[in-house]
Amino acid sequence: MDRIRIKGGRKLHGTIPISGAKNATLPLMIASLLTEETLILDNVPRLADVGQLQRILGNHGVDVMVGGKRPGETPYDGQTLHISAARIVDTTAPYDLVSKMRASFWVIAPLVARMGQARVSMPGGCAIGTRPVDLLIMALERLGADIEIDGGYVIARAKDGLKGGEIDFPKVTVGGTHTALMAASLARGTTVIENAAREPEVKDVADCLNLMGARISGAGTSRVVIEGVSKLSGARHRVLPDRIETGTYAMAVAMAGGDVVLENARADLLQAGLDVLAEAGAEISATNAGIRVKRNGAGIAPVEVVTAPFPGFPTDLQAQLMALMTCAKGTSHITETIFENRFMHVQELVRLGARIRLDGESATIEGVAKLTGAPVMATDLRASVSLVIAALAAEGETMVNRVYHLDRGFERLEDKLSACGAAIERIAG
Ligand code: UD1
Repeated sequence: MDRIRIKGGRKLHGTIPISGAKNATLPLMIASLLTEETLILDNVPRLADVGQLQRILGNHGVDVMVGGKRPGETPYDGQTLHISAARIVDTTAPYDLVSKMRASFWVIAPLVARMGQARVSMPGGCAIGTRPVDLLIMALERLGADIEIDGGYVIARAKDGLKGGEIDFPKVTVGGTHTALMAASLARGTTVIENAAREPEVKDVADCLNLMGARISGAGTSRVVIEGVSKLSGARHRVLPDRIETGTYAMAVAMAGGDVVLENARADLLQAGLDVLAEAGAEISATNAGIRVKRNGAGIAPVEVVTAPFPGFPTDLQAQLMALMTCAKGTSHITETIFENRFMHVQELVRLGARIRLDGESATIEGVAKLTGAPVMATDLRASVSLVIAALAAEGETMVNRVYHLDRGFERLEDKLSACGAAIERIAG
């Protein structure tokens, strides 16, 4: 297993290119199952999760062709995928594939919508709480699917196709909203989704579905209306920039100090996160190239933050913010409302000298004057990158073990940071 070694104490200066969003890419790839024509996706990040989803789609009979290099392309430019689900040969998504990545469960929606049946293993993924799929199943039932649970599999059937319906989510769910959008696009009649997730990735997927011929309005708001169509076609769509990667590097700059342009980043996708960073003392400005983040000299100010669905502060940046607050001049409070058990980074940050107290869903972080490098263990995707952020400011050497979590969601993290002056290297293991 690879490890990452970081020597702390260097400021970051330069440019970090922001990749396409993982959380849009995955549902966009899954949406390819809705049509027999080719879906072309540009700006796809090179991530382990993308490769894993390629294998899952391959099992259904989908061909994925990765476009070759173009003149003038840099190693950081996203890839182009040509995805063709001309013939779906298998409507089962087996345990050994789905258990590696939770989002792959979402294939259930296009499979049942187009093929009238799907058999998909209950998911696995990051170990952050129980993360049930009851609301995804409820959405499919509202569209007329018959659901049976058997041997760890969810079996969905709609012999005569899905029918439009009312879906009122009792809780905001990103996966539930993606599932409902995809299924309703090919259902007969009108579907109304209430309390839909407003995440930019939901809007990105809806935009792509509309290019494919779907009739979706209101995506990006909490009420989405879908007029079902009988067939969808191919399309070409560019994945939006990753706001979580953006926020992560912005926090890295705030932590280490320096001046970095996050190229291609969009401030409108991350206002709540950028506001918190500004409050913490970073200087943030939108430029033509992206977002510029600076912290020179000033200390880090403590903050009070509660995670919330978009447009609130994202749970996917909670661990990174906590890493930053370990060195604040004062006491911070961070409350996690989306996932239970999403504090696995706390013990590891404490190994670096952080002072953090947990009380249910809230963490109290007393800023310390300095962190000290130590061996630490990455436990999930966002937790592991929080350890990297902490290590950038820690005195001495930190070795982050089990970095395969990082590779699921961050493209060439060590290259992007070392290009800005960080002393960070991957040690193949
Ligand atoms: C997506 C993101 C993930 C992010 C999360 C919240 C992707 C690939 N992943 O995950 O990075 O952290 O949104 O912004 O886009 N819930 C239920 N029943 C369900 C479904 C969800 O109770 O059927 C609960 C979850 O346990 C959680 C909350 O709803 O407490 C939100 O989860 P959800 O938005 O569905 O997360 P994901 O779509 O899995």
